[in-house]
Amino acid sequence: MTTQQPAAAAGQFRIGGDLPVNRMGFGAMRVTGPGIWGDPANPAQARATLARAPELGITFIDTADSYGPFVSEDLIREVLHPYHGMVIATKGGLTRHGPDLWKPLGRPEYLRQCVLMSLRRLHVDRIDLWQLHRIDPAVPANEQFDVIAEMRREGLIRHVGLSEVRVAQIEAAQKYFPVATVQNRYNLTDRKSDAVLQYCEQHRIGFIPWYPLAAGELTHPDSAASRVAARLRITHAQLALAWLLKRSPVILPIPGTSQVAHLEQNAAAATVALSDEDFAAVSRQAA
Ligand SMILES: NC(=O)c1ccc[n+]([C@@H]2O[C@H](COP(=O)([O-])OP(=O)(O)OC[C@H]3O[C@@H](n4cnc5c(N)ncnc54)[C@H](OP(=O)(O)O)[C@@H]3O)[C@@H](O)[C@H]2O)c1
Repeated sequence: MTTQQPAAAAGQFRIGGDLPVNRMGFGAMRVTGPGIWGDPANPAQARATLARAPELGITFIDTADSYGPFVSEDLIREVLHPYHGMVIATKGGLTRHGPDLWKPLGRPEYLRQCVLMSLRRLHVDRIDLWQLHRIDPAVPANEQFDVIAEMRREGLIRHVGLSEVRVAQIEAAQKYFPVATVQNRYNLTDRKSDAVLQYCEQHRIGFIPWYPLAAGELTHPDSAASRVAARLRITHAQLALAWLLKRSPVILPIPGTSQVAHLEQNAAAATVALSDEDFAAVSRQAA
């Protein structure tokens, strides 16, 4: 690791047991327009942010066909292809009907189209990690899992992840394919997925917390978090990320940003080692 590659400082995780990534990753949802719809307001800035990621040691990028839609995947290919060992994780199974409007669609023929089109947009023969963005409650889960298992057997997908799921749903999916990652909303102030995280730890499943920076009330100047951040000379965003990295060795944070300066700040959070005392104080305050 060099000081120019801070994201490598938090160590690696092997997705599916055989695909190593640096734990501090990047979420590419914010390189799109308002409401995650259309082109980014500042395309040059979005491209520069993506280009900076590997220089900082980021080897894991999370995206989805529905970000834009298609804008995020297209920009990733344009700026980063042929990826040089980076893992580009994408998702499918959500349709878009306008800014901030997302509707699940888990029909097997649609999920297959999602994968085939992501392969084309990302310009790869196989997707390293493909995540079902949501299990569609209107389609029998076995039909969704069956087609994913089929695409894995055909070699279109290397590893499979799920998003916004409970333990029982992970167990149900594991009858069809190994679940390599789970992506649920989780951060210092929202730990509703603690039971899922515990299950992931027990089964060496990567846990990808989305909305990792939601520091909320922690920004209060008289809070334990503010005192710790001030003493360590780090920002609240960096504290939130350092807390996640210490929370569990299976956690892979993917903070999202459209700005190089924020990307650099977030990557540097991988170099922050929280003491057990600071971790406990911040955890207590935010619980
Ligand atoms: N599976 C799912 O259902 C799901 C849902 C949502 C998101 N995701 C994934 O999770 C990733 C992260 O989630 P997220 O983007 O919603 O939330 P987030 O990473 O917690 O927060 C992103 C927001 O924080 C700002 N920000 C980033 N770094 C900052 C910093 N150092 N200081 C101050 N502000 C900062 C960004 O604005 P600027 O652009 O101005 O920096 C952006 O508005 C997404 O990119 C996406 O890949 C998945």
